[in-house]
Amino acid sequence: MADLIAEIQALEGKAAQAIAAAADAEALAQVAQEFTGKKGALTGIMKQLASLTPEQRGEVGKAANAFKAKLDELLSAKEAQLTELKFSALAETEFLDLSVTPPQFSAVGKTGDYCGHIHPITQTQRRLEQIFTSMGFSIVDGPQVEDDYHNFGALNFTDDHPARDMQDTFYTQAQGGAGPAADRTSSLPQATGHLLRTHTSTVQIRALESMKPPLRIIAPGRVFRYEEVDASHEHTFYQMEGMIVDRKVSVGNLLHLMQTLLTEVFGKQVDVRLRPGYFPFVEPGFELDMKCLVCNGRGLREDGLPASAGPGASVLRGCSVCKHSGWVEVLPCGLVHPNVLRSAGLDPAEWQGAAFGLGLNRLVMMQHGIEDIRHFMAGKLEFLRQF
Ligand code: FA5
Repeated sequence: MADLIAEIQALEGKAAQAIAAAADAEALAQVAQEFTGKKGALTGIMKQLASLTPEQRGEVGKAANAFKAKLDELLSAKEAQLTELKFSALAETEFLDLSVTPPQFSAVGKTGDYCGHIHPITQTQRRLEQIFTSMGFSIVDGPQVEDDYHNFGALNFTDDHPARDMQDTFYTQAQGGAGPAADRTSSLPQATGHLLRTHTSTVQIRALESMKPPLRIIAPGRVFRYEEVDASHEHTFYQMEGMIVDRKVSVGNLLHLMQTLLTEVFGKQVDVRLRPGYFPFVEPGFELDMKCLVCNGRGLREDGLPASAGPGASVLRGCSVCKHSGWVEVLPCGLVHPNVLRSAGLDPAEWQGAAFGLGLNRLVMMQHGIEDIRHFMAGKLEFLRQF
């Protein structure tokens, strides 16, 4: 018995040495295993207890417990030391000096230094997000590279639906062969391959797939179209989708929502008109137009030529943003089509929905009187600095 106790006591010195030599947490865990693990030194000694009397076993057990307590103490102290060493090493290598002044952007104009800021579209997007989250909406996201089903199929565009032509886009090419982009003799997208989403309505479907009604979501994001670019059309632009699904949703709810949105963004009542609009995924569908704030609804704007340009200087020229109509399409909307609800597994007799698809670029154009949509992506600081 005395031999066994001596053996246990001798372990203490060996363990202390091994712990002191451990360079990291892994080595420390290894040391613990060597002494108290299944095949550890202490376990080996304890296997010999069978030949002892109960009193002797008690004595040896006491020595073993004392050793374990000492071992734990040494391991914890070493662990604390290793952690401290690790953090002081990190403090050296990943030091962040919070007192440093950020570098200034290069000086501009006569006013001195200029700091970068949030893009005007993002500014409005964030304002809208605030407005909607305050009304209990969640912000959700979806992929910009989509499949045909989420961009068209699930939104009630059948494969040969003519409404697909209004939203032509960029297609990925099917692997090992020519995809639709290579065959423009037909403008019909094929179900194979992927495409750049043409609208944020894709997120309506993704939300219906992953969330349970009742739900209220907005989905801001970038969309793409194979489009002839002009003052009000871009190939890459931003939309914000909104959707409510609940047990009782009406056109009245939808209009109230959009009125709130516009009044909050513009800080005043703005002139709008509502007309019927066709989108396969809503029924009924509407187009909500805003009176053009670039030309104040006249469809005409000042030429802007200098007086020295002669008689033509005072001539009024058409407004290219509203294409002389005095109105700009910004907010198509409608009640979610029963087929869309059905394809998401919802019973249209129980659930109803309202949705809108805000054209963010055009809304920002109205906010600031911007006369050409192409300014947004031109990367010109003279333009961006104004916001
Ligand atoms: C849609 O994209 C539908 N997904 C909107 C919708 C959602 C309807 C929910 C009903 C319910 P539309 O193609 O009209 O619809 O585009 C919506 C808005 O995006 C337009 O009103 C316009 O403000 C903007 N927009 C459309 N095409 C362009 C473009 N090429 N450049 C800039 N803005 C555009």
